[in-house]
Amino acid sequence: MHNDIKEVLITREQIQDKVVELGQRLSEEYAGRNPLVICILKGAFIFMADLVKEISVPLELDFMAVSSYGASTKSSGEVKIVKDLDTSVEGRDVLIVEDIIDSGLTLSYLIDVLERRKVNSVKIVTLFDKPAGRTVDLEADMSGFVIPDEFIVGYGLDYAEKYRNLPYIGVLKPEVYNS
Ligand code: PRP
Ligand code: MN
Ligand code: MG
Repeated sequence: MHNDIKEVLITREQIQDKVVELGQRLSEEYAGRNPLVICILKGAFIFMADLVKEISVPLELDFMAVSSYGASTKSSGEVKIVKDLDTSVEGRDVLIVEDIIDSGLTLSYLIDVLERRKVNSVKIVTLFDKPAGRTVDLEADMSGFVIPDEFIVGYGLDYAEKYRNLPYIGVLKPEVYNS
């Protein structure tokens, strides 16, 4: 285990099983359609890569980078589009792939942006959900794990851009972000 990690909350195997299950549910949900699957960078990059391998319907991919946390464990409350989509979403069935919903600010902002661009439908799949963090009314259509009110890293999730490569979900030692 990494030295800055206090505890492994979700193992690599638990994540793998959940991603397979979500992929199967999404394959049923989108049967007969051709969704545009949007990865919210950077956090969702590993989940996106693993998830789309488990979805059996034809689909297209795009990527959008937004950031609200920076080098902090609290959202700045201000969402910035760092990289926009390459694809037009007008009339498309959009599936947003997100790693975690905490305050809900990132996705409520993005849903607004996408609806103004006249999507046919938009749904959210998130691997992790931290309901205790919510400051706006925003729920995923599908989610993997409910997370307690602790700052987690790994499987794409960072603290100050570190720990994204850990293959499990860990809780950081408090001294790492208090120092
Ligand atoms: C994190 C995470 C989600 C968002 C969730 O992204 O990946 O996108 O925050 O928080 P919220 O529900 O409170 O908005 P971050 O802004 O840290 O950028 P990153 O994905 O590049 O790490
Ligand atoms: Mn993110
Ligand atoms: Mg981050």
